This record gives sequence, structure tokens and C-alpha cells, in this order.
Amino acid sequence: MGTPIRDGAARGARRRPEPRAARGDEPRARRADAAATPIARGSARRARYAVTAMPRYHVTTFGCQMNEHDSERMKGMLESLGYTEAPSQDEADLILFNTCSIREAADSRFLAHLGHAKRRKRERPDVVIGVGGCWAQSVKEEIFQRFPFVDVAFGPGQVHKLAEFLTSDSLTAQGFFEFEGFTGDLPAKRARDFQGWLQISVGCNMKCSYCIVPSTRGRDVGRPLATLVAEAERMAAEGVTEVTLLGQNVNAYGRDLARRGYPRATFAELLRAIDAIDGIRRIRYTSPHPQDMKEDVIRAHAELPSLCEHVHLPLQSGSSRVLKRMRRTYTRERYLDRVALLREHVPDIAITTDIIVGFPGETEEDFEQTLSLCEEVGYDGAFTFIYSPRRETEAAAMPDQIPHEVKVERMERLVEVIQRRARERAQRFVGRTLEVLVEGPSRTDPSKLRGRCRHNKVVNFTGLARPGEYVQVEITSATSQTLAGEESLLARAGAR
Ligand code: 5AD
Ligand code: SF4
Repeated sequence: MGTPIRDGAARGARRRPEPRAARGDEPRARRADAAATPIARGSARRARYAVTAMPRYHVTTFGCQMNEHDSERMKGMLESLGYTEAPSQDEADLILFNTCSIREAADSRFLAHLGHAKRRKRERPDVVIGVGGCWAQSVKEEIFQRFPFVDVAFGPGQVHKLAEFLTSDSLTAQGFFEFEGFTGDLPAKRARDFQGWLQISVGCNMKCSYCIVPSTRGRDVGRPLATLVAEAERMAAEGVTEVTLLGQNVNAYGRDLARRGYPRATFAELLRAIDAIDGIRRIRYTSPHPQDMKEDVIRAHAELPSLCEHVHLPLQSGSSRVLKRMRRTYTRERYLDRVALLREHVPDIAITTDIIVGFPGETEEDFEQTLSLCEEVGYDGAFTFIYSPRRETEAAAMPDQIPHEVKVERMERLVEVIQRRARERAQRFVGRTLEVLVEGPSRTDPSKLRGRCRHNKVVNFTGLARPGEYVQVEITSATSQTLAGEESLLARAGAR
């Protein structure tokens, strides 16, 4: 089911779609016109280069942090080709979508955007429309049948092919869907100079029965430790002080390296190597799997100064029976044991999670076990999801799907517990002084600043600091989501 990956070896992946004539009536008519006039795509692109010195791109990103990372790399790559960023789709010569497929809601949001791009293409046929990411990967060539105005489509392992497509004179739409490289090897355009993503692996070898990721991002392939350390050193030299290690299953990192001829390494060793780099003040990572949350990683949290006091540990369900049907490979007890071990080593650690409600066959009793686990753990925050069947996943074919009203009702009950416990947990910060990395103005009150503490809570505060600075903030109040406070001017004076 997964996208085939050949370790180490790059694979030629250019797949030309069927000849245009084979692609249905409407597209044939449009393409025949296009080919006969100067607005055929290849020549239009050449013409545009002549008129506009700097072609402009716009990228819309859906989904997870891995997609945010991939979009930064897309932007970096486009800028190295001479493109500049347009403030909106309407001003762009190249409209790109980096899509997500993990839940149904992401699909529908993207399809609405695509409708807008279609209208744009009708007004200006020389605009190039590209669709990348997991949704593109999940439908592959079908995209050109359903959306004939799309010029180029590519999966998450094929972002670099976009450059090849844009610099070629090809007149046909093209799709690229086989794993060939890490987007992390491409140049980045960072949203903030002081924060950077480090893609440590792609893909996932787990087989969670609800999840589309193994089929869109393929099997787990890690980047060699030396490559990652060199990249982190480069980031630090460029002014990045907070680095987030990214992968679908980060703590499984390293298992494939020896087989591919690279020196062995574990996730805990990678954490240590990055902690040793001068200039990196904070390390975060997402997401680990509870199965691989071993003591070496937990110890690293206690021992490494730059590793933050926060773990995002996806639970999915508090019922061992449901976890088994989800193929999560741990039980309720094993999960609770991991939480206990984390708190034994780092008592103040913040724990957040992902939970799915309404998985097929989830009974009221199963759901109550999720509620009771959330009461017991007391998460600092959680992403909660209503189960949605995904194409070609095992759970989509399970017979006992849960009615939508039941899912919604359970979600409301879950959110109440999550928020109440998060609010209670957050009170431990009131009265303390926390180190905050300033990100910019507060979103709700621009006279205030916004940043994050090491526990990954958003902190809104009054103060004088600039983005990228680390400041001490006295916390005066806390809600389930955010902390509020004042910059400690005493600490600022002391630091001078
Ligand atoms: N339905 C609902 N939520 C899902 N997730 C993954 N697949 C599905 C699905 N089919 C959630 C999981 C995962 C998070 C990124 O998205 O909780 O951890
Ligand atoms: Fe999907 Fe499970 Fe892999 Fe996470 S661990 S990406 S939920 S298959």
C-alpha cells in the first residue's frame, strides 16, 4: 500500500501522464486550443519571463508541521530559481497548493481553494497551477482527470521535481509521485529567522488502521546523523536558536541507517549531538510514538539543557480494545507507564496529545476510558479529532462506523475534560518567572508581545523585547490555552 521507496538509490520518477487526447472531452478541447495558440504553457512561461523579470509564486499550505516545513523548502527552491513571493494567489504567476489528506476536513478546504484557482486560470491561462503534498500523492494521476486545469502535481518526496518542471519547456501536465529525496535537502525560506525545522526522516513504518500517512509518505527513511548535525550547525550559524526535529515517527529514527550503509544512530544520540551545537538554545520534536518512548529519550529530557520540557505524545484512545483495533501497538497501561516515567524524570514536563473520537466500534465504555485517562494524565493541551474514514485504510472498511451525532456528542464531552484539566494544570505557572522566546506582537492585543515558554505554552505579555529575543516573563494568569504576564525588567537590567 505504501509508496515504494528504494533505500539510498534515487529512482527516476518522471511519469508522463497519458496523452492528452485520452483524458476526456473537456480537457481535450481546452488543451487543443492551448496548443494552437501562443498561450500554450511552455511558451507562455518563456513569454512571461521576458515580460516580468521576476515571476511570482504563491503557496497555500494545509495540514501538519511537516507540510509547513515542505512549503518553506518549496519557497526556498523557487527563490533560488528567481521567483519572488506574491502576497495573494491573484497576483501570482505560479499558484501552488501543499495539500493534506489526514482528515476529511482538510480535503474539503483544499477543494474550495482549487475552485478559486480554476477561475484564475480561466482569466489568465498562462498561470501555472501546481498541487503538491499528501492529497496529491493519494489521488496521483487521477488529479489530471478530475482537475484538468492543474499543470503539475507532485507527492511529498518529489518537491524538487517542481523545479525541473518549471525550467523545462514541457507542454504536457506532469505528475511526480515516487519517493526520491528529502525536502529537507532543499534550500529553506524560514518564516522566522530564529526558528527552524529539521526534517530527520520521512514516512512511517507503523500501520495505524485509520491513517493515510504510510500510503502518502511511504516507509520510514532517516537522514544520516552527520547530515543532520551539519544542517543544524548551519542553521545555528544563520541565527536559528530554536530547532524542531520533524518526522512522522521521530523516536523510531535511525533504525534503517545501518542497512543503508550509514553509521548507526538512535534518536537519543541525535538529540545529544544537536544539544552539543553552540547557539542552539531550544530543541523540540514532533511526533514521537508511545511505543518507542524509551528510557534513553526520557533521560535526555532530564539531562540535555536545550531539550524543552514538553512532549507531544499521541494517545488516540484510552481504551486498550480500541488501541488494538487501531493497531497502535501499546495498551492503556503501557501509555500511562510512559507518562509516569516522563514525570519521574522531569516532574514539571508539559504533555500534550492527539485523540480520535468515534473510531469504528468505539463503545460508550471505550470512550469513557478515554475520558478517565485524560482526567488521570491531565494534559497541558490536546488536538482532538473526529474520526474520518480515509481512502485505502483498514479502518475505513470496518463495519461498525459510529453515527456522526454520537461522534459530535463525544467530542464535546472530551473537549470539556481536556480544557478543564489544561486550565488546572496551567495554574502551576502563575507566580513563576519563565523564559520566553519572543515571536512577535500578540494576536489579540498588538500592544502586547507573544512568545512561547519551554513548555510550549503561548505567553502574551507586556514588555520591550524584540522577536527572536529570550526574555524572563513573570506569569500573572493562565487559561487552558495561554499564559499572561509581564516581562521582568529586573532580569532585563541584570542581563545588560
Ligand atoms: N480521522 C481522524 N483523525 C485522524 N488522525 C489521523 N488519521 C485520522 C483519521 N482518519 C489524527 C491522529 C493523528 C493526527 C495527526 O491526526 O490523531 O495523530
Ligand atoms: Fe499515521 Fe500511525 Fe504512522 Fe502516526 S504512527 S503517521 S498515526 S501510521
